Amino acid sequence: MSKDTLTITDNRTGRTYEVPIESGTVRAMDLRSIKVSDEDFGLMSYDPGYMNTASCKSTITFTDGDKGILRYRGYPIEQLAQHSSFLEVAYLLYFGTLPEPDEFVRWDHGIRYHTMIHEGIKQFLNGFRYDAHPMGILVSTVAALATFYPESKKVFDADVRRIQFYRLVAKMPTLAAFAYRHRMGMPYVYPDNSLGYAENFLNMTFHGSEPSSTRPPDFEHSPVLARALDTLFLLHADHEQNCSTSSIRMVGSAQTDPYTAVSAAAAALYGPLHGGANEAVLRMLKEIGSTAGVPEYVKQVKAGERKLFGFGHRVYKSYDPRARVIKTCADKVFEVMGRNPLIDVAIELERIALEDEYFIKRKLYPNVDFYSGLIYEAIGFPTEMFPVLFAIPRTPGWYSQWQEHLTDPDQKLARPRQIYLGETVRDVPRRDG
Ligand code: SDX
Repeated sequence: MSKDTLTITDNRTGRTYEVPIESGTVRAMDLRSIKVSDEDFGLMSYDPGYMNTASCKSTITFTDGDKGILRYRGYPIEQLAQHSSFLEVAYLLYFGTLPEPDEFVRWDHGIRYHTMIHEGIKQFLNGFRYDAHPMGILVSTVAALATFYPESKKVFDADVRRIQFYRLVAKMPTLAAFAYRHRMGMPYVYPDNSLGYAENFLNMTFHGSEPSSTRPPDFEHSPVLARALDTLFLLHADHEQNCSTSSIRMVGSAQTDPYTAVSAAAAALYGPLHGGANEAVLRMLKEIGSTAGVPEYVKQVKAGERKLFGFGHRVYKSYDPRARVIKTCADKVFEVMGRNPLIDVAIELERIALEDEYFIKRKLYPNVDFYSGLIYEAIGFPTEMFPVLFAIPRTPGWYSQWQEHLTDPDQKLARPRQIYLGETVRDVPRRDG
């Protein structure tokens, strides 16, 4: 019977070591006993980008990159997209189970009555230039919420954590909508507690917008749009240990309050390689302009001169299951708002890429960001709002992962080591005079 251990022979000393294998991993700390002398610090693992490092144990989200599987608490994302809602999924991520009807009524009521933000936040908003990037505004204002709820520092009090969870899930759309209205120079539209989560956000954002050829009257109350946006939110709710979630876990390990920790996660999400990719995809599609421009752009990508934003993923080496569902949302939104002609460029880009050896060899497939921006643009969001539309729904995922990290007895303050390649010790030159 094979043992769940790894036998390591250190050829520098001829010594062998046996380290246990647990859940397909070895503990990095077990390497420290491998030394060449008693003064030796011992072996460490070196893993830039954490390509092959498990930072935590989690029961929240499971992905299988080769099979294109994504499950929240065991439920396949495709089934949740079809049968559930964003608020139900937010509850699922945090509490671990889908809410019973009476539980959902209480949860939904709690969210609706925490959507308001302190009037003082408007002072911060007015301090930003009109053209400030809304993610810069969101990162700042969500951190500022910590100053209005100082009790949130009691991170080991489960009741305190729960009320902050309600507040963050409820207030992120309000902060986002206010950031948009500030940019447009339009008056803020306060939350309307009679509306569902997605419709309330659409109303706070677009109420009073002038109808146009692509904006039917009262589009912000379209049930089709609200359902499509709710599904998009649901698909973005969590994704195990991505860059922004790992960031909130690292910041949370210092026992920082959850608002400031969410702000750190949003800051990580802002980057164009992560949640900022949906914004970069739209800029890329607009630059390509038409299907005729696709071959030249693909040629530049293959020459290493450009990146195909919305393609590739650290985990998915097959089609991102979320991209498939998002593509179906696009058709429903286009029925209401008119077809975004850039979808033809995206479809042609996908067609060529999926046939081309360069992308096949590197297992580059469309990811969650490839089609989402087309929908956001069709609804009427400016490109700069796209990462904000990622941060809103990722908040319950970040928060659930933050809580799991904080309450995991295995975890402690995150403090990685390094390989020092700098100067050896040297004296400061004496400068007389
Ligand atoms: C998200 O982790 C998550 O879960 C994130 C996320 C979530 O829900 O939280 O799923 C959300 O962030 C999705 C990813 C959005 N980002 C983009 O669309 C930006 C474009 N994608 C790439 O930057 C890239 O694919 C990454 C960053 C997403 C992943 O890159 P990896 O795993 O670090 O792989 P790599 O950069 O080492 O690339 C391997 C090869 C390289 O070629 P070679 O050096 O071997 O010749 O593939 C190439 C890369 O140059 N490559 C690309 C490419 N992505 C990888 N070439 C062109 N275009 C791309 N998009």
